[in-house]
Amino acid sequence: MSDIETIEAEALSAIGGANDLATLDGVRVSELGKKGRVSALMKTLGGMDPEERKEMGPKLNALKNRLNDAIETRKTILEDEELDARLASEKADLSLPPRPYHTGGLHPVMQVFEEIEEIFGAMGFAVAEGPDIEDDFHNFTALNFPIGHPAREDHDTFFMTPDENGERKVLRTHTSPVQIRTMMNEKPPIRVIIPGRVYRNDWDATHTPMFHQVEGLVIDKVTHMGHLKGCLTDFARAFFEVDAVETRFRPHFFPFTEPSAEMDVKCDRSGGNVKIGQGDDWLEILGSGMVHPNVLRNCGLDPNEYQGFAFGMGVDRLAMLKYGMPDLRPYFESDMRWLSHYGFKPWLLPSLSGGLS
Ligand code: DAH
Repeated sequence: MSDIETIEAEALSAIGGANDLATLDGVRVSELGKKGRVSALMKTLGGMDPEERKEMGPKLNALKNRLNDAIETRKTILEDEELDARLASEKADLSLPPRPYHTGGLHPVMQVFEEIEEIFGAMGFAVAEGPDIEDDFHNFTALNFPIGHPAREDHDTFFMTPDENGERKVLRTHTSPVQIRTMMNEKPPIRVIIPGRVYRNDWDATHTPMFHQVEGLVIDKVTHMGHLKGCLTDFARAFFEVDAVETRFRPHFFPFTEPSAEMDVKCDRSGGNVKIGQGDDWLEILGSGMVHPNVLRNCGLDPNEYQGFAFGMGVDRLAMLKYGMPDLRPYFESDMRWLSHYGFKPWLLPSLSGGLS
């Protein structure tokens, strides 16, 4: 028998006879390791004349591959056997209570959704919802974004592949399209908030491609800017749990409201983190305005009979502010340490009488 055949026969028998992973690895080292028998043979190639080397090179390589394959196959079998043995010997006691670390918690975004719903619920608002995949009409056109209007470009929209009619649906860029759906389906008076996921192609410490908003819509026969300001100032006081919160309304532009305003709350930024209700700085919290007559008309409502106000706020950002989280990205990384640190106990429902947070 040649060296190759001897080594192969002996090695295969040692591999087949290895009954645990450590023994198998020992065989691998003594045959294929740096100082192993096959490696030693490989080293002799250098001293061979070219003809001989041409013949022996491929043979040695093939031997190496066959032994490697045999070791891998045996390894899989031994690993399966080891796992079977462990599964048979270890039993999970399902009657044991879970460890506190593994108790489910509420994500800060869900907590803030519930807080906002509690506050507006107490003011008589109902909750409305709409689809995440929207058409251009509801997401833009009916909201008075004319075709080709630059405000459409600001939204970094995710477009779906066009359907058979050439219509390109979008992942909704805001919760405002649900205003349209609500006004087209319900008779005023309307008083709804709309919590939901929204999508924009953006990614850094304060922007994620999916984030959360709460929209608000009030439509009635006598609704004016004073109602808007009172309602949203009350909201800010309840949400930040500070009675002294001061608000200011700064003129702004949104295509679907006229006039439009951003609401700021007074804050103190001096100590590194933001303290609401103190200091001399201002922090933008939400967008708002009186529903544009074109939007009312697009939904079949007569602007001479009905008016209303609307508002929209970013929930992830509100959660960051209220609970002191500096970066948005960990929100969606499912890191148990982050979740158990910032999560909320699921059974402690926020309530205005018992405390929101
Ligand atoms: N849809 C706006 C956005 O995503 C937010 C917004 C502003 C909603 C003003 C409103 C509003 O209803 O009145 O940027």
